[in-house]
Amino acid sequence: MKPLVLINFKTYSESSGDKALELAKQIAQVKTKDYQLAIAPSLLTTKELADKTRLMIFAQHADGVLSGAHTGHIPASELREIGVKGVILNHSEYKIPFLELSQIIELCKAQWLITLVCASTISEVKHVAEYHPDYIAYEPEELIGGNVSVVDADAHIVTKAIRVVQSVSPKTKVLCGAGIHSREDLQHALALGAEGVLLAHAVVKANDPKKFLERMLS
Ligand code: G3P
Repeated sequence: MKPLVLINFKTYSESSGDKALELAKQIAQVKTKDYQLAIAPSLLTTKELADKTRLMIFAQHADGVLSGAHTGHIPASELREIGVKGVILNHSEYKIPFLELSQIIELCKAQWLITLVCASTISEVKHVAEYHPDYIAYEPEELIGGNVSVVDADAHIVTKAIRVVQSVSPKTKVLCGAGIHSREDLQHALALGAEGVLLAHAVVKANDPKKFLERMLS
């Protein structure tokens, strides 16, 4: 399986509204044989990007509800229907209480959605590994959005997160994220044993996102 490079659009102005499709089109032009590229658009542009691009799409969140009377909620079943392939859960910008998280993971699995659960500490990594998601993304909160990458700041803790996941849930793949901004960061993450990266501002805010990604994935 190819390493996953998942670009989280968050709700940056550069990746929201009318700009989302333009950014997704640039990313879609990046050719790579070695990586699985995917995007997580803002929830309001997810359907549009699933309809208009061939990129693998993750939703930035899902709720623990089935379709029905749930105003303002996001059912996994509808994500599946609009062409979403996976879901990011428990991002440090959108934490979910553990009990609810386990229900949402089950609902997503029932819809055959790839579950990617974020964790910002080793004890959280251990806890979420007990729910056996497809992926755990280890992202120390204090490094998110900055220019020092998780692999430069503390390579040892990335290795530790991977070891913890392997001992609790051997089939769960581990990504790392926070401050990832170069080919070196990506290679370093893979060398440590991660099966990909989760990144955001380095792509979204790049002057030329296509060129940036081509260099990163070269
Ligand atoms: O979801 C990705 C993330 O939180 C890392 O963000 O901007 O540090 O790459 P960034």
